[in-house]
Amino acid sequence: MALDHTRHWDVVSDGALLCSDQGPELSLEDEAREAWRQSVRCIGRLHWQSLQVVDARGVTDLDSIFDACVEHLRRATNGGRIIPTQTVFGRWEDPEQEIRVWNHQLVRYAGYRRPDGSVLGDPMNVKFTGIACDLGWVPPSSPGKFDLLPLVIQYGDQLLVRELPREVVMEVALAHPDYPWFEKLGLRWYALPALSDMLLVTGRELYPCAPFNGWYMGTEIGSRNLGDEQRYNLIPVIGEQLELGCDRSRLWKDRALVVLNEAVLHSFERDGVRLVDHHQASREFLSFCGREEQAGCEVQAEWSWIVPPLSGSATGVFHRTYPLQPKLPNLLMQKQAWETERGRNLLTRYGQST
Ligand code: ARG
Repeated sequence: MALDHTRHWDVVSDGALLCSDQGPELSLEDEAREAWRQSVRCIGRLHWQSLQVVDARGVTDLDSIFDACVEHLRRATNGGRIIPTQTVFGRWEDPEQEIRVWNHQLVRYAGYRRPDGSVLGDPMNVKFTGIACDLGWVPPSSPGKFDLLPLVIQYGDQLLVRELPREVVMEVALAHPDYPWFEKLGLRWYALPALSDMLLVTGRELYPCAPFNGWYMGTEIGSRNLGDEQRYNLIPVIGEQLELGCDRSRLWKDRALVVLNEAVLHSFERDGVRLVDHHQASREFLSFCGREEQAGCEVQAEWSWIVPPLSGSATGVFHRTYPLQPKLPNLLMQKQAWETERGRNLLTRYGQST
């Protein structure tokens, strides 16, 4: 049976199916590393063997789960010298002990829908921000574009909503080496991309809560998070600052994107926060492919995710194809926690307006 990495799995309805596929017995550390190695959408896989794995399978209360997430941020951020890290909480057994972090990432910015339909902050997080508010989170008295969201943690039929200690969240204020006006835009981004809603599937076990991080590739922030029309939508703002009338240059968006990406790379470097640019990432991915081939392993990859969202054809990864048959162990998407039956019940019980 082919493994569908594009669907959102629910451990309750899909659990048995996945567990029946037993591979060789590996340590948790090796399973987690294999899962990264085989993640078809990740361009950063050259570094899979450096993943640090924290075994948090013995943690069984909300406070300790929260503390372990905070500790993950601290250790993995490592003052900017980011360490790829995964913290693995208890395996899926039954609904009474299900652990989920409801956040998409440990660090994310709130998105507030305004009465006129526009969004303040990150439009991608509007739904989650509403849920956090429903669950009792109180946003800052004057909401901004970059308000840190609280963690929402589920253990069995209990929920915890708690803000992260400010000092474990490293952020980078964005400036551009050539344009003094850039930093006046007040843009920033956080240092550590730590996905917290994916399912670690080893073949033997399912781990619905196993937050992990690498470091950023600049374009994730500069092209997508800040550039996408349905995200911070800054291309028109940058274009205007650069006085690129759309009538004067048909490529004004392209130039604005390059400036945004330059600012991201420059600012992370200035602050000593590790990140990789897309040209380097592409070279590293191709060397990963070479090594895997030598080891007799065929690299499975999803072309549209591997090719960077800036200057695609100027990177080596563009000019070839990849087989796409995901293997276990792997990291899969899950149904949103609040959309599962357990989550819906919890929302009703804990929610204030639902
Ligand atoms: N693209 C996501 C973001 O911009 C992060 C995904 C994981 N990225 C990584 N470099 N490990 O926040």
